[in-house]
Amino acid sequence: MLAQTNLIGVAIIALGGLLVLTSIGVLVLRNRALGRGPDIPSAMRPGPSDAALETPLLHKLQGWGVLLVAFFVVWFPMTWLLEPSRNVSQEEEFRRLALERGRLAVQPFSEENQLGVGCVRCHGPELRGGVIQAGEGYAFPPNLTTICEGNLNGAHPQIATVEDIYQVIEQGRGQMPSWSIRYQGALTDQQINDIVVYLIDLSSQNVPFENNICLNPDAAERAVELARQNGTVLERP
Ligand code: HEC
Repeated sequence: MLAQTNLIGVAIIALGGLLVLTSIGVLVLRNRALGRGPDIPSAMRPGPSDAALETPLLHKLQGWGVLLVAFFVVWFPMTWLLEPSRNVSQEEEFRRLALERGRLAVQPFSEENQLGVGCVRCHGPELRGGVIQAGEGYAFPPNLTTICEGNLNGAHPQIATVEDIYQVIEQGRGQMPSWSIRYQGALTDQQINDIVVYLIDLSSQNVPFENNICLNPDAAERAVELARQNGTVLERP
């Protein structure tokens, strides 16, 4: 979509350039042609006759007027009709880019992947859960590919809303480090947003819609209700 927009932009610039060049050419050639005749200021040259003014010239000008109106009659509705689909495709493009950045962010940092922050180090190479050393024992960073199931099947007892996902990533919890720059982490809000967009997309492939708290408002409601009963989350609006 962006490439297409760029192409249209380039075409418009090329056409505009051509127009400017032609105008300059016409002006130069016309001046040359004038140079050959007697040097009469244009205001003093004889104008069109009354007969010419009344019909051919008048009609010509009116014709241009009609053409101009016809152009706008097509142009305005076209712009208006195409606007929603243009907005949608722009939004899809933003989403696609966010997803791609999120996908790269969870991978380890490397020369090729400068966006990587390496969630996979702890959560497993495919984010399906891992094992890390924690003091004397071990901790088990959870499977993130089902994060949108939240507390509904017991896999993520402390997740009831998308805000909870943001909160864990931003502020950390237990052995999970905080990532937001507002909590001594290394990631901006946009980077965290990209990661959450990616995690929601991953979950949509692994969590049935009826239990998906990220996409299904009914599931979200049940998850919040459950969190209230279990007292797993302190503050709920
Ligand atoms: C140092 C290891 C480590 C790294 C790196 C790490 N995590 Fe975690 N993460 C954990 C642990 C351990 C938990 C479980 C925390 C707890 O409940 O005690 C966790 C929990 C989570 C949870 C909550 C899961 C749930 O079921 O409640 C999310 C979401 C999460 N991590 C996302 C991320 C993201 C995104 C990244 C990369 C930006 C990341 N983690 C990097 C160790 C890590």
